[in-house]
Amino acid sequence: VSPPVLAVLGGTGSLGLALARRWSAAGIPVVIGSRDAARAAAAAAALGTELAGRPGHAPVRGTDNRRAARQADVVVVSVPYEALASTAEAVGGELAGKTVVSAVVPLRPPRTAVVWLPPAGSAAAELAMGLPDARVVAAFQNVAAAKLAVLDAPVRGDVLVCGDDRDAKAQVVDLAGRIGLRALDAGPLANAGVVEGLTALLIGLNRRHRATTSIEITGLDRSGP
Ligand SMILES: NC(=O)c1ccc[n+]([C@@H]2O[C@H](COP(=O)([O-])OP(=O)(O)OC[C@H]3O[C@@H](n4cnc5c(N)ncnc54)[C@H](OP(=O)(O)O)[C@@H]3O)[C@@H](O)[C@H]2O)c1
Repeated sequence: VSPPVLAVLGGTGSLGLALARRWSAAGIPVVIGSRDAARAAAAAAALGTELAGRPGHAPVRGTDNRRAARQADVVVVSVPYEALASTAEAVGGELAGKTVVSAVVPLRPPRTAVVWLPPAGSAAAELAMGLPDARVVAAFQNVAAAKLAVLDAPVRGDVLVCGDDRDAKAQVVDLAGRIGLRALDAGPLANAGVVEGLTALLIGLNRRHRATTSIEITGLDRSGP
């Protein structure tokens, strides 16, 4: 079975580009989306050059967010919360029936270390309300782009996956696993607010400890103590 084609909306940014780099290196074709097709094409070309010598990598293309969504089976939304509504509106019609992964963390700068959630309960729930025909899953909010960006360094940290569609969640768990991240089914989309809120805590920890933190769930290994 050929791997799904992934689109990363906002794929020119820190997290989106890091995910695109990892998935492409793992042999999964990626379309980088942007508000500006030329910017996406430039980012894809640079990534293609970087990956050229790597056996097993898949092609990366770049285009505007709408075309990227149209060309993909699974669409990752990786834009700042302020851009969520406008991005969803720009691509909405292309997402019906697709797995749509929200990595968005609702933050209110400058207080980015304080948990703030939108009235819907989470950015992912807000996205799902506007996309009744899409299978919205929340994931990747607690991974650090800076760590993901360095291809040959393994990334520590668990990915908590929330959503109301079992198959879509399983697809996202698999996609995370392909880039070396352990992903765990964290229940329904109604739980996404907790996962998104954790990122504000991590941002505070990062500041206080001058570190790049992520989360790991313990106790799952039954052979352990
Ligand atoms: N950075 C991390 O370590 C990290 C980790 C976990 C989760 N997240 C979350 O993932 C999302 C993306 O994070 P990021 O750090 O990659 O963000 P970013 O670099 O600031 O932005 C990502 C992309 O979104 C687009 N964008 C920016 N402002 C926009 C606007 N006003 N309207 C429409 N599009 C806009 C831009 O793409 P174009 O200009 O090309 O359209 C930009 O390259 C955020 O919600 C963030 O909270 C980030």
